[in-house]
Amino acid sequence: MKHLIDSTDLSVEEIDSILNLAQHIIDNKEDYSEVCKGKKLATLFFEPSTRTRLSFEAAMMELGGNVLGFSSADSSSATKGESVGDTIRVVGCYADIIAMRHPKEGAPMFGAMVSSVPIINAGDGGHNHPTQTLTDLLTIKREKGRLDNFTIGLCGDLKFGRTVHSLIKALSRYKNIKYILISPKELRVPDYIITEVFEKNNIEYREVSTMEEVMEELDIIYMTRVQKERFFNEADYVRLKDTYILDETKLKYAKKDLSILHPLPRVNEISTKVDDDPRACYFRQALNGKYVRMALIITLLENAGRE
Ligand code: CP
Repeated sequence: MKHLIDSTDLSVEEIDSILNLAQHIIDNKEDYSEVCKGKKLATLFFEPSTRTRLSFEAAMMELGGNVLGFSSADSSSATKGESVGDTIRVVGCYADIIAMRHPKEGAPMFGAMVSSVPIINAGDGGHNHPTQTLTDLLTIKREKGRLDNFTIGLCGDLKFGRTVHSLIKALSRYKNIKYILISPKELRVPDYIITEVFEKNNIEYREVSTMEEVMEELDIIYMTRVQKERFFNEADYVRLKDTYILDETKLKYAKKDLSILHPLPRVNEISTKVDDDPRACYFRQALNGKYVRMALIITLLENAGRE
């Protein structure tokens, strides 16, 4: 593994190795404070971000490295017409590793084809978000103690939600996971997820339209925001945006050990009254994102050093 573009670039063994390293970092933080001394991470964010960009930057700083980059396309030479390929070739002269977010699906993959340094996809359009998936997997492992044998409900915008697509693909390699897909019919998962992931691998899944009908079955609920920025029509967004709101009333029907995940940012889809419920994992999940990105940076830089 030289780059991380898609969650399926990682074998189960590679995922387990990154998650184990992240847990080791959590337990032995001081041992890692200089492992990236002299190394530089570039964060090239052509789309807005709070968690992904800042957790990457915090991760590199906590490893003793340095960071450079930009947080919007407007402050880069993309506004003058520079191509992604040229941007990546140039930044590879300044940095040892690049984390890149871009609104166009496939842009990080294209960047990886011309890059001299490791490229990490930090989200490409409605397609993939593999480092969020590593964050989600570390969270499930820490909360549940396992990455198999559970029922997960994925709720909200399953069409445009790239974190959902990456997570389903990664989890499809683990045993005995049942998927309940909770969405309005306009926001169901893309057909390729149904045919290429669920049906091809004989994985049990169900599509439903309400949370109430499945709440008591779930071990994990993965809430998502309706992705306003991917809609072509404002009226459709307004009609669909508050379809699902997880609140204390709905949680009365849930298991006592339910884990509530959300990649964040949240808009209305989880009531703030749920935040103090011990089952709410989403802020712990955001913290896990920093540790798993530390583990990923170490792994990719070690791999690059062996080439
Ligand atoms: N979860 C996530 O990708 O958040 P940001 O858009 O803030 O990076």
